[in-house]
Amino acid sequence: MPGSLESRRVVVIGGSAGIGLAVARLAAAAGAHVCIGSSDSGRVARAVSALGGKASGRAIDVRDEASVAAFFAAAGPVDHLVYTAGDWGSFRAPRPVAELDLEAAGAVFAVRFWGALATIKHAAPHLAEDGSITLTDGVVAHRPRKAAPLSTAMAGAVEHLTRALAVDLAPLRVNAVCPGLVLTGVWDDIPEAERDERLRRMTGHQPLPRAAMPDEVARAYLYLMTGTYTTGQVLVVDGGRTLV
Ligand SMILES: NC(=O)c1ccc[n+]([C@@H]2O[C@H](COP(=O)([O-])OP(=O)(O)OC[C@H]3O[C@@H](n4cnc5c(N)ncnc54)[C@H](OP(=O)(O)O)[C@@H]3O)[C@@H](O)[C@H]2O)c1
Repeated sequence: MPGSLESRRVVVIGGSAGIGLAVARLAAAAGAHVCIGSSDSGRVARAVSALGGKASGRAIDVRDEASVAAFFAAAGPVDHLVYTAGDWGSFRAPRPVAELDLEAAGAVFAVRFWGALATIKHAAPHLAEDGSITLTDGVVAHRPRKAAPLSTAMAGAVEHLTRALAVDLAPLRVNAVCPGLVLTGVWDDIPEAERDERLRRMTGHQPLPRAAMPDEVARAYLYLMTGTYTTGQVLVVDGGRTLV
């Protein structure tokens, strides 16, 4: 049935943790056959076992085109592709422009932008015409931070890639989710008191003055997969952060 995930094949790259794992869980609960991928095979195995039922998964390193090609050769037909893969090393070390190591600067784009493009390149031949691709960026696209211009440029590039691919790959639908702060494992290695204080500082002024739970953001991906007349859109799920 159009607009339903029942028995549809959903691939979530970045599905072993955080927002991607929440998307995988909701899609599986909606009756989809879910296949997740990420670079750490142990993490993939643990997530597949937590998802249970019809879920499957395998390792993929989106920085390695051969690994991406092998993943999709093995995955077979795909109805919906969701991309939430993200690494945090380069994001945690913001630099003023005058101190940028230009060779290292490319790392900011490696997983979130180039990894997404490699994934789409190798998934495209397997994607159903009435299917969808949903990418991920973040509110840093719209709210630049001091010493992090590349993060804003990269997130904006994902949004423009989304619009371009919605035209280029039509009638396949291509959209993106732009989350605000989300309580995923990326916050786990910050001591609790410091984390709570930082979250209060970063979200206290928002209309919804808190960070999101992963499931609250995952619902946006479910809509974009099943919203059969929606393409080229960026769905901002940020508790109102970009309004104020
Ligand atoms: N959390 C937030 O507050 C927030 C806010 C705005 C935007 N976002 C965006 O949302 C996306 C997901 O964030 P998250 O918080 O859910 O992150 P997360 O919990 O760290 O999950 C990231 C996922 O990406 C996978 N991954 C990392 N490097 C990979 C690679 N080279 N190849 C394949 N998979 C790889 C990880 O698994 P492996 O380690 O096994 O590879 C993991 O499954 C990111 O693009 C992030 O920028 C997050």
